[in-house]
Amino acid sequence: MIELERVTVIYNRGTLDEKVALKNVDLLVEEGQFVVIVGANGAGKSTLMKVVVGEVKPTFGVCRIMGQVLKEEKIFKCGSIVCQDPNLGIFPNLSIEENLMLARKKGFRGLSFGRVDPKAIELLRSCELGLEENLKKRASKLSGGQKQALAMVMAVSSNPKLLLLDEHTASLDPKSTEKIMELTDRINKTLGTTILMITHDMSIAEQYGDTVIVMEDGRIVARIDKSKQKVQASQLKSMIKSKLTATT
Ligand SMILES: Nc1ncnc2c1ncn2[C@@H]1O[C@H](COP(=O)(O)OP(=O)(O)OP(=O)(O)O)[C@@H](O)[C@H]1O
Ligand SMILES: [Mg+2]
Repeated sequence: MIELERVTVIYNRGTLDEKVALKNVDLLVEEGQFVVIVGANGAGKSTLMKVVVGEVKPTFGVCRIMGQVLKEEKIFKCGSIVCQDPNLGIFPNLSIEENLMLARKKGFRGLSFGRVDPKAIELLRSCELGLEENLKKRASKLSGGQKQALAMVMAVSSNPKLLLLDEHTASLDPKSTEKIMELTDRINKTLGTTILMITHDMSIAEQYGDTVIVMEDGRIVARIDKSKQKVQASQLKSMIKSKLTATT
């Protein structure tokens, strides 16, 4: 599904601000996998995700999606991304219903309204946040957790093969975080969507996903397959802390 081969990313190459953000990264993510990426600030996690969506081009190496080097527009059609800010994944001035109609049309020419997919309503209902009962409500009036749940359902409305999550629970309270993580897991298990998720929350990394990748200074330094090895939040924390103390 995703294949990175010796990917190096150098920002501002040849200038005083030159920064090597990824160093010779090899990564293979199979279809249907749920991969969690952890690492200290600046380790290169978001850069890796930007390479996968085509937003950042590798300076060296290659990134293939479904066996091909795809243009950004193509990746846009087969993948969806949800970020930290709940306001970025929704159209705040439209109703929940209108948001869902537009999301379904993603990747097609023109932003005309379609129909709400019953599967989207079902997913909303499964979040138990009352969204399905208030379809006419303006998205700007929702809580952060409700907005993020809507953003997630919108992200999968176009049936993407790939869902990329960059700290998508970082701004949420514990209860909303739990709801959004349960939704994330349900999307992976019931829709079979391949998920690449970045988090700073080690208990989430312990609890969810089938593989944990630890990044440090532009490299993947550990890859833990949960079916073979138990992952503990404390163990992940100490792996990441050692990097922080080493650089300070
Ligand atoms: N557009 C850019 N131009 C220059 N340098 C950049 C750019 N984006 C990221 N960097 C640098 O590349 C390195 C990796 O950044 P990246 O955002 O991938 O880290 P991260 O692991 O996602 O960190 P965080 O946990 O803080 O989000 C950092 O040193 C960062 O300052
Ligand atoms: Mg980041």
